[in-house]
Amino acid sequence: MITIKGNAFRLDTGNTSYLFKITSFGHLEHLYYGARLAGYEAASGLSQKRTVPMGCTILYDSSDELYCLDNLYLEWSDIGRGDYRQSPTELKMPDGNFTSDFVYYSHNVLSGSVSIKSLPCAYNADQTLVVTLKDKCHNIFLDLYFTVFEKTDVITRRAVLTNKGDGLLSVRRIMSLSLDLPDEDFRLLTLDGGWIKEAHLHERPVQYGITVNSSTTGNSSSRHNPGFMLAEADATQDTGHVYGFNLVYSGNHYSLVEKSGRDIVRVQTGINPHCFDWNISPGECFETPEAVMTSSERGFNGMSHNMHSFINEHIVRSHWKNRERPVLLNNWEAHFFDFDENRLLELAADAKNLGVELFVLDDGWFGERSSDKSGLGDYWVNPKKFPGGMKAFVQKIKALGLNFGLWFEPEMINPDSDLYRSHPEYAVTIYGRTPAMGRNQLVLDLCRPEVREYIVKNVGALLDEAGIDYVKWDMNRNMAEGCSPVFNNQGEFYHRYIIGLYEVLSRIFGARPHILLESCSSGGNRFDLGMLCFSPQVWSSDDTDPVERLKIQTGLSYLYPPSTMGAHVSQSPNQQTLRRTPLSTRFNTACFGCLGYELDLKRLSQEEKEDIAEQIAFYKQYRKILQYGTFYRIKTYKSNKVVWQSLSQDRTTALTGFFQLLSTAAESDDKLIIADLKAGLYSVKNRPRRLYLKSFGELLMHLLPKEHKSDGSVFGAVEADPAIADCIQEFECSNRALAKGIPLPTQFSGSGYNENVRLYGDFGSDMYIARLKNAET
Ligand code: DGJ
Repeated sequence: MITIKGNAFRLDTGNTSYLFKITSFGHLEHLYYGARLAGYEAASGLSQKRTVPMGCTILYDSSDELYCLDNLYLEWSDIGRGDYRQSPTELKMPDGNFTSDFVYYSHNVLSGSVSIKSLPCAYNADQTLVVTLKDKCHNIFLDLYFTVFEKTDVITRRAVLTNKGDGLLSVRRIMSLSLDLPDEDFRLLTLDGGWIKEAHLHERPVQYGITVNSSTTGNSSSRHNPGFMLAEADATQDTGHVYGFNLVYSGNHYSLVEKSGRDIVRVQTGINPHCFDWNISPGECFETPEAVMTSSERGFNGMSHNMHSFINEHIVRSHWKNRERPVLLNNWEAHFFDFDENRLLELAADAKNLGVELFVLDDGWFGERSSDKSGLGDYWVNPKKFPGGMKAFVQKIKALGLNFGLWFEPEMINPDSDLYRSHPEYAVTIYGRTPAMGRNQLVLDLCRPEVREYIVKNVGALLDEAGIDYVKWDMNRNMAEGCSPVFNNQGEFYHRYIIGLYEVLSRIFGARPHILLESCSSGGNRFDLGMLCFSPQVWSSDDTDPVERLKIQTGLSYLYPPSTMGAHVSQSPNQQTLRRTPLSTRFNTACFGCLGYELDLKRLSQEEKEDIAEQIAFYKQYRKILQYGTFYRIKTYKSNKVVWQSLSQDRTTALTGFFQLLSTAAESDDKLIIADLKAGLYSVKNRPRRLYLKSFGELLMHLLPKEHKSDGSVFGAVEADPAIADCIQEFECSNRALAKGIPLPTQFSGSGYNENVRLYGDFGSDMYIARLKNAET
């Protein structure tokens, strides 16, 4: 709800309030952002109490010796009038100066969201407040949008700069959000990494000066995800004050946190000023992407819950909004480029038998693409691999009872391709320079209308002709040498590319809303809210090792819900790390996301296939909770444990993934904590987990509750009976006991085995299911 009293604006969501006011000189002073305030709260109490002038400052106006912009909490701020902190803008004004001074002009309250012409944004808001500022000397206007999403406790912000004068306005920097907060001894948390190590959580104290979280690769990048958090010093997963920020944008982003000498913490986020230079001619405007913010007093989990519901309700759209996502099998790690129709059909038939719902054909089906050296850009179906064409192949897949998905990398081109031979100008290159290559490919110039047309036509035609249900939209190289002949000012390239990309995506998929789009960029190199406006799920990482996925999915879970994370079970040893892990742990990790399998099923034993069929059946039974339930990172008191929980909306069913990293000798008892259940008595069970006897080698002779003769027949016995169920557990407990944590059976310690001992070793895990038996009255 938006309320305006005198010169003060108040924005309320279910649990938060955000207040600012117009100062006597027309600037917007930030008053408060945090837990919801009582209705009678007055702006005067929250305003800064400036009682003496500060030394070494510049006065904004000599009529007020206490009014110095550098020491104010501001909603926006300019260069040149005494605020020496980072300004959200760097504008070369029509008179050639860098000084701007935007002050209050008017405001307007609108119902719902206001869409952005050139960019995607969140939808279905409650209300939007637009405060218009005007530069004191020029006819240049700045609209600040504050949009309220009450139920999810999110407020978004963005800016639109309009040149109503008659000279050119040059923009070198314009943020979507600038906000000054009082320091709470903040920690800054970011998601950083790179290929196969995306979204690792890092934190550092906010110190005096500036810390930047940004990307310059042309995409939102796995180096530094655009989302970040500020947490009061002693916030935990469940307690304390945490702010979350994100940006609805897929290109070069930039966020900063700047702590001033007066302990004011400035937060900004927006398009990266790196290589950015935009001219606004008279009569034109520039729209920034939308910045997202939330505040929670319920620790990191509370902040995540707000962000998760916001994404599920206000970012993801189309037919797939809040819909259960299919269990898929992707052929990439099974075949790479080495397949033909028969191999694929064999894999698909096996997949169907195990319960898979969607078969995804990855890279290599088109053009002369037998490796990553050629063919990108040529989306004609390779007749050697598919003699009857794609449509006939898709029909065969559908006849098996599977839906069908296809991989594309439409933004890229190999120099060894028909497209490049006929249209070398489609690639982003600089005349006279040898192009910088990545994965043997160049970027297509999406600033060019004819390139966008080519992609929309080619991809669209095949989707319709072949009857495709799912698309994996890949993007496998960072940009370099950004430039396009479409405009003279090359400072516009990176942003115009992203506008072009969004146009292409909305033309292709807006017209085909039934298609499930999974975006990918060498894994999670473009995991951001901009892409999520088009693709309900994102391939989180090329790393399918569950132990690495615990880090990646934990990191992502701070700002993105499980329904957005593509997560696959692959073979062991793992292709990226060579680590050996149990099949159960690979599943237990992947099922806290959109489950898929990515391995050659024909290499599996009968027992492993049965295991997978049971995994898929279990996933389908609990899919709604695993994809859309309330996700918790449960505190652990041991550094070798990771615990995730998904809770049903009615809080009567919880699924807990209990993961061990490296085992330790004589491990002390573990505890199972299940948070936030509705009051009552619960039955708790673990999902039966197979232990494959082969993995125990010679230890079989001593370890297991099996009668094995020492005459060499032991391995014959293993063939006949390859796996046992490990430590079936079942308890009855109240929600209160579970919230505190109940003891689990002892782990194996080298001193003997019986069926009540948990045999985890390194990377063992369990999935617990808690269900309400009797509600408390
Ligand atoms: C990178 C993706 O992340 C992989 O999953 C796979 O699709 C390859 N590209 C195909 O080239």
